Amino acid sequence: MLRRIFVFSASLRIWHWINFLAIMVLFFTGLYIGTPYFTTSSGYEATYAYEKNITMGFIRFLHFSAGYVLLFSFLFRIFIAFFRKGDRLFIPKFWTIEYWQGLKETVMEYLFIKEHRPMIRNPLARTAYFFVYLMIFFMIATGFGMYGLSDPDGFWASLFGWVVWSLGGEFEAHYWHHIVAWLIILFFILHVYFVSREDFTHKNGEVSSMFSGVKFFEKEPVDIDDVK
Ligand code: HEM
Ligand code: HEM
Repeated sequence: MLRRIFVFSASLRIWHWINFLAIMVLFFTGLYIGTPYFTTSSGYEATYAYEKNITMGFIRFLHFSAGYVLLFSFLFRIFIAFFRKGDRLFIPKFWTIEYWQGLKETVMEYLFIKEHRPMIRNPLARTAYFFVYLMIFFMIATGFGMYGLSDPDGFWASLFGWVVWSLGGEFEAHYWHHIVAWLIILFFILHVYFVSREDFTHKNGEVSSMFSGVKFFEKEPVDIDDVK
């Protein structure tokens, strides 16, 4: 008999997919901003590019609009963390033996050596999510910091202007914004691999859990306290 455990609230699921879509728009428009020839040099000639809306102005507009979506959905994610146990934002418990034990088990499973105990979220995934939330915040801070440069006395410059200067200046802010963009994509590739793999190997409805909110277990997961 499989147990059906409700893990993700509707709010968290909606946040997850909005966040995913915003990041896809941000990544591709961002690459264009950094290297306009990324659409290849045989793209539209300037006159026709304007007609097709592939202008830097329009692409930047898309980037900044998705940037606002990312910001507000991030604030929403923090807000909902206060309401349901399953939606809490975790700081991985590096200081406990169980954390390292769970991490070892997960790595052993990922290397196809031994299956780990049933877990709602394994410690490796939790650690990755913790860094993903930090990376998203970093992108918001550097992004709005750079955005504020065009209006040095404005709201965004006073809120995040210091981020640009702390990194060393405008060039460095662009540089780190670009590097972390790729780190997020690296996470995204590994994330899709691992959630699909979990689904295939444990048949626990892992992928669909981000749509339905539930996962299935034969035995009680060791971290059941996280959701109950
Ligand atoms: C995961 C989220 C994001 C990704 C993947 C991303 C990606 C990028 C990339 C690749 C660049 C080009 C950097 C370069 O090579 O110079 C860029 C530039 C930029 N991004 Fe983002 N970005 C994200 C979030 C944001 C946010 C939230 C904002 C806030 C409005 C923002 C504002 C900017 C600005 C102002 C620039 C420079 C535009 C210019 O120089 O014309 N980004 N972004
Ligand atoms: C840029 C893209 C993505 C980012 C940044 C991202 C981020 C995240 C984060 C932070 C969580 C943990 C939520 C929490 O408990 O606080 C999560 C969970 C999850 N995501 Fe994504 N995600 C992305 C794309 C995707 C895609 C394309 C899929 C579809 C296969 C997916 C499927 C899932 C599933 C099934 C979970 C639950 C896994 C678990 O319980 O450990 N994600 N994602």
